[in-house]
Amino acid sequence: MNLLDTIPALRKALDAERAAGGTVGLVLTMGALHEGHLSLVRRAAAECDVVAVTVFVNPLQFGPHEDLAAYPRRLEDDAALSEGAGASYVFAPSVEEMFPDGTLTIVHVAEVGDGREGRARPGHFDGVATIVAKLFAVAGPCRAYFGEKDHQQLEVVRRMAADLSFPVQIVACPTAREANGLALSSRNAYLSPAERAAAPVVHRALLAGRALVERGVTDQAAVGAAMAEVLATEPAARLDYAEALAGADGKVRLFVAARIGTTRLIDNLEATAP
Ligand code: PAF
Repeated sequence: MNLLDTIPALRKALDAERAAGGTVGLVLTMGALHEGHLSLVRRAAAECDVVAVTVFVNPLQFGPHEDLAAYPRRLEDDAALSEGAGASYVFAPSVEEMFPDGTLTIVHVAEVGDGREGRARPGHFDGVATIVAKLFAVAGPCRAYFGEKDHQQLEVVRRMAADLSFPVQIVACPTAREANGLALSSRNAYLSPAERAAAPVVHRALLAGRALVERGVTDQAAVGAAMAEVLATEPAARLDYAEALAGADGKVRLFVAARIGTTRLIDNLEATAP
């Protein structure tokens, strides 16, 4: 496994792989890798000739009062885990390497990024879209693997890649969960044991929403309210939003965001109406 930390080094390595006829899989991360990330790396390794994992805690996507400084950083472990899951390259640049002069260019994806997380975290998706566009520009033609846990991020990235004609195929991968339903997230590391025991309420709320949709309830506000009600049964949880959104394909996507103690968790599920 090659650990690279400069843009020219990654570009050169992936260009050489493609020139030799190989296909490239890309998994973008902010590090603190868990089984969810590794499932993306394994899938990429199964479908592509080489896999590059990027590890970059992107300052552009953190709000002024968010956890940028405290965000877990453990590159050695991340590199070993990436290699174990089948990655050939780990790209871990410094902030200076990525933004030697800061950035005057911000990528904004309108509408798709406006609601839910976009509303709760102003500027967050501008930061995500900007860094993902930059990493796509550096990596070149590839298949890029994203988890459905951050569903709105996936939609923002899809739209950005299509609008800007990046030669990147976006691959959506299912959310990895603990046996109790808790979606895997680097932020779960912030939860105390008591909060960890409380956190699966987010998934229970989504399951309650899904049961209603599957029973034929079409009133999206009622589904949202039912999910909020389940969240309210857990004293450690504070609801941010619970929303149901019908897609053009007849499927309904359910979203919950909540604070468990001081840790903000998000999750989502798909439901199919009868
Ligand atoms: O999902 C993440 O970890 C980040 O938002 C991403 C896509 C790596 C961009 O920094």
